Amino acid sequence: MHVRRKLVAGNWKMNGSRAALAELAAIAAAAREASGVDVAICPPFTLIPLAVPRAGGLSIGGQDCHAEASGAHTGDVSAQLLAEAGARLVIVGHSERRADHGETDGAVRAKAEAALAAGLQTILCVGEVEEERIAGGHVEKVLFQLEHSVPELRREAELVIAYEPVWAIGTGRTATPDDAAEMHAAIRRALTERFGDAGARVRILYGGSCNAKNAEALFAVPDVDGGLAGGASLTADAFIPIIQAAARS
Ligand code: PGA
Repeated sequence: MHVRRKLVAGNWKMNGSRAALAELAAIAAAAREASGVDVAICPPFTLIPLAVPRAGGLSIGGQDCHAEASGAHTGDVSAQLLAEAGARLVIVGHSERRADHGETDGAVRAKAEAALAAGLQTILCVGEVEEERIAGGHVEKVLFQLEHSVPELRREAELVIAYEPVWAIGTGRTATPDDAAEMHAAIRRALTERFGDAGARVRILYGGSCNAKNAEALFAVPDVDGGLAGGASLTADAFIPIIQAAARS
């Protein structure tokens, strides 16, 4: 069995400001203390170069990247530009990108390939909407997304999967540990079937209203290798208990 280090990542979305970077000092200190846990924060693009010098102990990442290295793509940013700005990771395929920008599994796969090729750790998000869960098709949906959006693994960088049920994002509702156990086990099976031993090393995060109250129970579930937090990553007070929960699990 593989021992996977826990990873706790924060997704600031279109929140934060220069002033909010002050939160990073305490988060970085908590990350240094939680020596068995990897910690990351993904602020808006403009804050990345400002966040990097304050990051000691944690990694800074982007929330999206374009599939191409350069070109006529107004408003987009490439994985190379993120890396040059000091990002060590990037999120791709977040449900808000899939919904607001019409990103298909194919587009997400191309972005993940570009990110991995640029040497960025790549957090690829999958997750079902509520109707799919009610209809009992949630596992099938997520496995379909995985099959079509996860690229071949590369050695230069690391792939991480984030299971984020869309109905749990920003709603205060979370998957139960049993829901997470079912889905994370299914994702693990799919990864090991496709990639063999390398699939057993891919970390699978839970996301969707992950917070100080529910993190410990979720992180105790086999194959939950940490969390991706949105709202609860915006302040040190909310985020540090999640890091500490990961350290205890
Ligand atoms: P949330 O967002 O923690 O605010 O639900 C998580 C995410 O969308 O990554």
